Amino acid sequence: MLSKMATGNGHGEESAYFDGWKAYANNPFHPINNPNGVIQMGLAENQLCFDVVKDWILKNPAASICTVEGVDSFQDIALFQDYHGLAEFRKAVARFMEKVRGDRVKFDPDRIVMSGGATGAHELVTFCLADPGDAFLVPAPYYPGFDRDLRWRTGLQIVPVQCHSSNNYEVTRSALEEAYERAQEANIRVKGVLITNPSNPLGTVMDKDTLTSILAFTQEKNIHLVCDEIYGATVFKQPSFISISEIMTNQDCNPDLIHVVYSLSKDLGFPGFRVGIVYSYNDDVVHCARKMSSFGLVSTQTQRLIASMLSDEEFVDRFLAESSQRLAARHSVFTGRLKQVGIPCLASNAGLFVWMDLRHLLKDPTVEAELALWHVIISEVKINVSAGSSFHCSEPGWFRVCIANMDDETMDVALRRIRALAAKKDMPNKAAGKRKCWQTNLQLRLSSRRLDDFMGIPQIGSPHSPMPQSPLVRAT
Ligand SMILES: Cc1ncc(COP(=O)(O)O)c(C=O)c1O
Repeated sequence: MLSKMATGNGHGEESAYFDGWKAYANNPFHPINNPNGVIQMGLAENQLCFDVVKDWILKNPAASICTVEGVDSFQDIALFQDYHGLAEFRKAVARFMEKVRGDRVKFDPDRIVMSGGATGAHELVTFCLADPGDAFLVPAPYYPGFDRDLRWRTGLQIVPVQCHSSNNYEVTRSALEEAYERAQEANIRVKGVLITNPSNPLGTVMDKDTLTSILAFTQEKNIHLVCDEIYGATVFKQPSFISISEIMTNQDCNPDLIHVVYSLSKDLGFPGFRVGIVYSYNDDVVHCARKMSSFGLVSTQTQRLIASMLSDEEFVDRFLAESSQRLAARHSVFTGRLKQVGIPCLASNAGLFVWMDLRHLLKDPTVEAELALWHVIISEVKINVSAGSSFHCSEPGWFRVCIANMDDETMDVALRRIRALAAKKDMPNKAAGKRKCWQTNLQLRLSSRRLDDFMGIPQIGSPHSPMPQSPLVRAT
C-alpha cells in the first residue's frame, strides 16, 4: 500500500550506527541514578560553552519574544513568513561565517539560503545539482548521515573516495581519479565532489595544497564542488581552518561550480535550532534553493534570536575564543590519558571527537572483528562509540569517540572505562565469542557490509532517527 520510499531503509535507521544509540537510550548513564549505564560518546554535540550562551540570553531579554522586553515583537515575528528570511538574520550569519574564517573572506547576505540544519542544506544542494542516478564522489571516512541526506529522497548515489591512515587520510588526486573512473566504468554520471572540512570523523583540517588540488580536479572535470564546513569554528589549534571560499578567490576558477554547506549545529552547539545554510556562488542555485527552502525554513523566532546574538560581535569573539580553548583542553586530556595506556588517536586539531585507533585490539583486520569489538565496548566497557565501518572507513579498527557532549566528571568516568579496556589483554577473542549474545540484544548488522557489492556503497548509518526512547534522554 505504501511507496518504496516509505517501506525501504533509505533512512538508514536499520544500521550498526543506530544500534549503539539504542543501547545508550535503553540504559543511559547517570552518575547517581544509573552509574553503570552506557555513556554516550557517539553524538557530535558541542556542550562546552552553554554557560557563555546562557549568560548572553539573560543579558539580552529583548532578543526573545517570550519576555517582557521582547513581547511587543511577538505579532510581527509570528506573522512573518518569507523564504528569504529576515534580512538581519542573513546579515548576521554571513558576518559570523566571515569571523569563523578569520575575516579572510567576505560573504554576501543575499546568497545566504536557509534550511533545516546542514541535513536539509545537503539535500537542497543535491536536488539542485543532480538528477536521480547521478553520483557525488565523497572522500571516506565520511559522516554516516550523508547516506541519508544525499541519497534517500534525491536518488543520488555516493561513490566513496578511499583514503588511508598511512598518509593521514589525505584526499589525493589519484584517489579522486580512481573513484571517478570507477563510476564511469559503471556508467554513472559524476556530478560533483563533496568534502567535509574540518573532517567528521577525523577532526583534521585540509591544507591549502589539498584544497587547491581538489578544486582543480572538479574544475577540470567540470563538476561541482560542495564543501561542508560546519565544523569550521571547532578548530582549536594550528593549522587554522582554510575555507574553500578563501582558496577560490586566489584561483582562476568557475565559481558556478562551488557551494558551501554550513550550520550552527556544531560551531555554536545549537543542533536543536535547525539552522542550516546553503551558500552557493551560482546564481541559479541560489534562486532554486531559495524557492525549495520553503520545505525546511528556520522559524522566524529562531532567526530573530540568532540575528540578535550573532550581531553582538563582542559575544561572538568571546564565544569563539572560549569554545576553542575548552575544546583544546578536552582534547588534550582525552588523548593524553589514552596515550598513557597505549591507545593512539589520529593527530587532530578540530571537531568534537577523536579518531581512536584500536587496530591492535582486533582479532583480525576485518569489519566483523571491528564490530565484535564494538559490541564489547558497548556491553562491557559501557560506552557508545562509533565503529569506523559506519563511516565507510576501509581499514577496520578505527573508532570515532565524541568528547564534547558531556561534563568533566562524566568524561572522567568514560576515560577510566576506556583505560580499563586497554588493560584487557583477551579482548579480541572475547569480542568474537560474545557476538552472538549481542546479536539478540542489538541486532548486529554485519550484513551492512554486503553493499560493497556494487561500488563500495554501504547502507550504514544515519545519526538522527525516531527511536523507541528519545536520543535526547541522556545523563545530565
Ligand atoms: C559533516 C556533517 N554534516 C552535516 C551534519 C548534519 O548537521 P545538522 O545538525 O546541522 O543537520 C552533521 C551532523 O553531525 C555532520 O557531522
